[in-house]
Amino acid sequence: MSKFEQTYIMIKPDGVQRNLVGAIIARFEQRGFKLVALKMVHATPEHLEKHYEDLKGKPFFPGLIKYMASGPVVAMVWEGLDAVKTGRSMLGATNPLASAPGTIRGDYALAVGRNIAHGSDSVESAKKEIAHWFPEGIVQYRSLLEDVIF
Ligand code: PPS
Repeated sequence: MSKFEQTYIMIKPDGVQRNLVGAIIARFEQRGFKLVALKMVHATPEHLEKHYEDLKGKPFFPGLIKYMASGPVVAMVWEGLDAVKTGRSMLGATNPLASAPGTIRGDYALAVGRNIAHGSDSVESAKKEIAHWFPEGIVQYRSLLEDVIF
């Protein structure tokens, strides 16, 4: 069953450096999702270690933190029907070599260590990630589209 959800989507430092911010935002807007939070952050290693705490102990963990701390990211919250699952399918498989053309990673990336964007993998992690990146809270507004869709 489709659900109205919020998901945390983050454009990683390589996505910012490659000027893909507008293209990625456009895909979510055009799909019909509503942007409810957005900011650019140069995150500290400590903040990123907390975000990726489930991966502590993985061999790639130190490299992942170094990459994510190498430049600013664009932190966003998108809202809409099945936002978590659909957000992940729009990003494509984690390893871009397996991502279908037409997905963000399938169109813009080649290596898992430089895979352009992150998306929450469950509603529960979305809630945690949104609280971690937006402790100040999220705006609320009514989109005209909601009258049509919901
Ligand atoms: S795992 O091992 O199955 O738990 O990992 P996976 O779900 O595939 O990926 C979890 C996040 O780790 C990132 N990742 C990597 N980053 C850098 N280098 C390597 N080798 C690497 N392997 C996985 C992957 O992109 C996931 O991060 P997010 O931010 O969700 O994309």
